[in-house]
Amino acid sequence: MLEIKDLYKSYNKKFILKNININVKKNSSLALIGESGAGKTTLSKLILNIEKPTKGQINIREKKVNVVFQDYRSSVNPTFNIDEILKEPFWSTNIKFDKKELGNLLQIFNLPNTILDKYPHQLSGGQLQRVCILRAILSKPDFLILDEAFNALDIYTKAKIVSFLKEQKDLTLFLITHDLEIAVTLCEDIKILYKGDIIESLKSNSLKNVKHPYTKMLIDSIMKLEK
Ligand SMILES: Nc1ncnc2c1ncn2[C@@H]1O[C@H](COP(=O)(O)OP(=O)(O)OP(=O)(O)O)[C@@H](O)[C@H]1O
Ligand SMILES: [Mg+2]
Repeated sequence: MLEIKDLYKSYNKKFILKNININVKKNSSLALIGESGAGKTTLSKLILNIEKPTKGQINIREKKVNVVFQDYRSSVNPTFNIDEILKEPFWSTNIKFDKKELGNLLQIFNLPNTILDKYPHQLSGGQLQRVCILRAILSKPDFLILDEAFNALDIYTKAKIVSFLKEQKDLTLFLITHDLEIAVTLCEDIKILYKGDIIESLKSNSLKNVKHPYTKMLIDSIMKLEK
């Protein structure tokens, strides 16, 4: 579904991404983990064709690609109410807006129906982030990019949405996160991005035998939390 070949991206002659090679199969799930500034959002912008590669190739087969941006607040039109924000993606497609499905999803996402009449500035960060995830799901994408899409959510809501996403069988997921625990819960494959380089590729069910000190540090920090 997604093939990234020998990809490089530089800004002002500084390489932000180096020699990136990624293959994502249909209906699989991949998590990209890395510290702040590693180049994760830059990679998602290249996948979405918002930015152009300096070198290399990105081939994406699916047309229905949705995204939840890390900067979700600026991804909604402040003059639209939530009802309009949720319907906006349907204006330019022939996919039918499903009112019943919206009702189901509002429940799963712990959002009351009354939210539909409100404007973005009247919502909490976590409520608006949930609206953005809901909007990305509602038009039934084949490929979904989530860039730190859970960072404003409380643990209970996060768990509910993560388990909902896990149940979606016809969805290819590209998760960007700092959070190894979410990555392991939601994704089969994990890639570690470190200073623009993919330094490790792991299966989420076998986190042993990691090689890079950064990955070891990530895994150790989970163990410490569990104590
Ligand atoms: N348009 C741009 N022009 C110049 N430099 C940029 C641009 N966009 C990103 N960068 C730089 O690229 C590097 C990677 O940024 P990026 O947003 O991809 O990091 P990230 O891994 O998503 O970090 P975070 O976890 O904090 O979101 C940073 O040093 C950033 O300053
Ligand atoms: Mg980012």
